Amino acid sequence: MVLRKVVIVGANGTLGPAILNALIAANTFAVTVLSRHSSTSKYPESVNVICISNEPDTEELVVALHGQDAIIVVFAGSLGDLQIRLADAAVLAGVRRFIPADFGSCDSSSQRVLGLMPLYAEKKRVREHLQDLASISDMTWTSLICGHFFNYGLKSGLLQFDIHSRKAKIFDGGDISWSTSTLETIALAVVRILQKEDETKDRLLYIQSLCITQNELLRSLERHSGQGWQVEYVSSGEYIREVKAEVDKDPSNKERRVNLVSVVGIVDGNWQDKAGFANLLLGLGEENLDTLVKNALTTTGG
Ligand SMILES: NC(=O)c1ccc[n+]([C@@H]2O[C@H](COP(=O)([O-])OP(=O)(O)OC[C@H]3O[C@@H](n4cnc5c(N)ncnc54)[C@H](OP(=O)(O)O)[C@@H]3O)[C@@H](O)[C@H]2O)c1
Repeated sequence: MVLRKVVIVGANGTLGPAILNALIAANTFAVTVLSRHSSTSKYPESVNVICISNEPDTEELVVALHGQDAIIVVFAGSLGDLQIRLADAAVLAGVRRFIPADFGSCDSSSQRVLGLMPLYAEKKRVREHLQDLASISDMTWTSLICGHFFNYGLKSGLLQFDIHSRKAKIFDGGDISWSTSTLETIALAVVRILQKEDETKDRLLYIQSLCITQNELLRSLERHSGQGWQVEYVSSGEYIREVKAEVDKDPSNKERRVNLVSVVGIVDGNWQDKAGFANLLLGLGEENLDTLVKNALTTTGG
């Protein structure tokens, strides 16, 4: 039996549309979106949309998930309680695979990461709940760690390069290699996970579109923007200490929380030697840095 009926929750954010498009393009899935009553998002006609309350209880979610083979959660990873409710409902509804909202810039199984950022502790808490459910039911899970979203990260500043002001912050000399993935590659990985049900079950998998250093990215940006960049060289240790202290003082400071994710994803984000590195298993090829940079500069007018 294949995982054919797939439901996606959070299909309209940063990553969701890419996953939705990849599921539709695969042409083998019956795709459903769970959408909140308050949502104004619109979806293609081929997609079945089920409306749920803004604060659904388990009973409502069981009804909504009935008959589905797999669920992909693509809303903020900080919504752990809702993910746990979805997981409990998925078991009761007979869903066979749960893909939680990990998709991390950083590794949610790393002690260092868990100590620095509560977001990742929340992702781990959800995964541990899925592990517990897998031990007492037929539901399995797969978590995907992809590194910084490349195209989104270049446009949003997550990669510490500001395309418009041509300024960059470079950590520890800029020669540390880190894994990064485009939204399209992550979406393809999700499709392949569903297509390789047995090989991917109950696993934390790591993927990348490419593994780069900040200096390689800087050189590519300089080549394709035709301009020199103003670079600030920073010690990651000092930067992490400074930002962490600010976040501890004011946990609602979103900009500084993102700064913390940003630096750790760069200095501690190379997946190539991880046991769960799955590019080969999922048939993902290497993307070309210059092509991605040229596209990003074109689409941002940079
Ligand atoms: N590696 C990276 O660089 C990186 C970057 C960003 C995010 N991420 C990760 O990627 C995953 C997805 O993040 P995202 O930024 O794409 O998501 P998002 O934009 O925060 O949320 C996606 C959509 O979920 C829906 N939503 C929000 N709250 C909801 C709720 N309580 N119940 C149901 N639906 C809700 C909203 O759609 P409607 O308004 O239509 O309901 C929203 O547009 C997360 O795990 C996040 O940590 C990773």
